[in-house]
Amino acid sequence: MSLLEDLQWRYATKKMNGRKVPQEKLDYILEAARMAPSSSGLQQYKLIVISDRALLEKIKGIAYNQSQITDCSHLLVWIAWDGYSDARISSVFNYTMDERGLPHDTMDGYKSVILNLYEVKGQEWQASHAAKQSYISFAMAIAAAAEQKVDATPMEGFLPEKLDELLNLKGSGYKSTVILPLGYREAENDWLVNMKKVRTPKEEFITEMTIADAAEIGEDRVDLDLTTIIKK
Ligand SMILES: Cc1cc2nc3c(=O)[nH]c(=O)nc-3n(C[C@H](O)[C@H](O)[C@H](O)COP(=O)(O)O)c2cc1C
Repeated sequence: MSLLEDLQWRYATKKMNGRKVPQEKLDYILEAARMAPSSSGLQQYKLIVISDRALLEKIKGIAYNQSQITDCSHLLVWIAWDGYSDARISSVFNYTMDERGLPHDTMDGYKSVILNLYEVKGQEWQASHAAKQSYISFAMAIAAAAEQKVDATPMEGFLPEKLDELLNLKGSGYKSTVILPLGYREAENDWLVNMKKVRTPKEEFITEMTIADAAEIGEDRVDLDLTTIIKK
């Protein structure tokens, strides 16, 4: 099946049947999540996997009682950095340089550029920027699950602060962003399973632009060349 056929097959499953997802399929989905690209390669997020029934029961209580939380096989929880710091960015860049056999200072120029850009924006912006990166990984997991014929329900319907408390994230520097129950559909009891998939029509969704459609933006261009900074 092609990726597009897999994406047609998948849907935000409302009723799961409790069947267990085999470990190799789970591993495949987790690996797709790990392979996601992220801004500056910082991977500002991590993934928590939960199959403990008692813990899932507690999570359901802070997720508007959505039944997929307890009828799923595994629940994936993305957690993202609550802000940026020199120490955090250095730790990732140093690891990357070690893996590539390059000196730690290779990325120093680039690091100070992004730190300067991020620092002035404040911690709320920083946490939101990190959270956005976690959604890219989340999307990869959704696509990988569809490829493995594993059902999944993308979910923001939970109380993030309560989940952070429950998962002992307070003081960890991470906040929960989004969750994904994985499992198998109980088709006969799922109202959504046979509904038409509806998306914005292609002609409305996609706009092709040329210079003729562009606005005048004046002369205040950014004279910073990131490509040379990264190589320094
Ligand atoms: C970020 C995000 C959060 C969502 N939260 C929930 C949720 O809490 N519960 C739920 O049943 N569906 C949730 N959905 C599912 C959407 O309603 C669904 O993806 C959308 O209607 C498109 O339908 P489809 O996924 O079946 O193609 C969420 C989807 C996304 C992407």
